[in-house]
Amino acid sequence: MKVYAHRGYSGKYPENTMLAFKKAAETGCDGIELDVQLTSDGQVVIIHDEKIDRTTDGTGNVKDYTLEELKKFNAAASWNGKYGFEPIPTLEEYFQWVKDTDLVTNIEIKSGVYYYEELEEKTLALVRKYGLEKKIIFSSFLHSSITLLRKLAPEIPCGALVEYENLGNPGYYCEKFDFQYYHPGMKALTEEMVQSCKEHNIPLNVWTINDMGALEQLYEWGCEGVISNFPGVCRGWLDSKQ
Ligand code: G3P
Ligand code: MG
Repeated sequence: MKVYAHRGYSGKYPENTMLAFKKAAETGCDGIELDVQLTSDGQVVIIHDEKIDRTTDGTGNVKDYTLEELKKFNAAASWNGKYGFEPIPTLEEYFQWVKDTDLVTNIEIKSGVYYYEELEEKTLALVRKYGLEKKIIFSSFLHSSITLLRKLAPEIPCGALVEYENLGNPGYYCEKFDFQYYHPGMKALTEEMVQSCKEHNIPLNVWTINDMGALEQLYEWGCEGVISNFPGVCRGWLDSKQ
């Protein structure tokens, strides 16, 4: 089973920062999940929310700030000074680091709340610039975003993200729409859904797995991957089973 660090090692470090990504790599995980959005001057940045309020010391929408303006906010602000100042990273900064590692990157296109113009194209252009096509999985809750990416980059696999209203027959759905992975939330996942994926050869990467009971259940069901805030704990438990 593969372990992806959710927003980096976000259980212990400020989510979606270079610090969280580098600390995730140290845990021996297989990959990193991160979220991308677009600044007012068209730069792809790594941040989960459409607003900067929860994770930084600023307020307002990502889309209303230039990159230069966004860089002044502290993405470690909610950790009460423990990690000092961590800027919001650009996807390009992340690629400059990750290209020299073996990590797979699951890029979640955050297009479902505000549909950023050309976020998919700009993200793909950066993947191509760094030659990372073989080490990327695209995913999105907005399936039209990954449908577009399947057209633009057939060589890069996509995962269909679903929240808690999981499909009953996700394997059929993913095969029909040419999505290579299914990325369900754990809360509503059933063994029948896993079985549907198996019947259609669709691997599952399940989120957000932060307790051992959930990890053990997915292991027993034969799921292929987990997305966790504590990647080292998951990796350690899985390695102990082998
Ligand atoms: O990609 C899995 C997970 O990140 C989806 O939910 O809200 O944490 O981006 P969220
Ligand atoms: Mg995400």
